[in-house]
Amino acid sequence: MDHKALNDIPVERLFAVAESQLECSRAPYSGFRVGAALWSDGQIFPGCNVENSSYGLTLCAERSAVMHWASAGSPGRPEAIVVVARQPDGSVATAMPCGACRQVLSDLPDSRHLQVCTGTPSEFSIISLAELLPHAFGPEDLNSKEG
Ligand code: THU
Repeated sequence: MDHKALNDIPVERLFAVAESQLECSRAPYSGFRVGAALWSDGQIFPGCNVENSSYGLTLCAERSAVMHWASAGSPGRPEAIVVVARQPDGSVATAMPCGACRQVLSDLPDSRHLQVCTGTPSEFSIISLAELLPHAFGPEDLNSKEG
């Protein structure tokens, strides 16, 4: 645990919002509930996983939070995202953002510094997006003059 990295970020409030999102989670197929809370511009943007009967259309909690932030006008620079999860039996699970979510988070402004927090309010890990997705594809690649 490296709480120092979360200076000025109300991590307990973020955990409370992420945990409340577990109730909103729509996970009838996997039973695996995920809640997220994105911190940007002094505001909290919640998200939950939304599964679909066409399984591949499922939206993860992290991307749900990003969409919530975008639909509010993309305020500020997202500084942290808290992710919590529950197994189908209700027990606590650890959920690291999946590969697709890492890529979506990576396109956020200044995303290398985004702090990703997973675990419980009393015991969580913090890892930067730079560590989670090194050598990421990004907007700068689209402007490449090579090739
Ligand atoms: N899920 C998330 O919401 N976030 C992740 O980072 C990993 C997976 C969801 C997708 C699906 O609804 C369920 O967890 C099982 O994969």
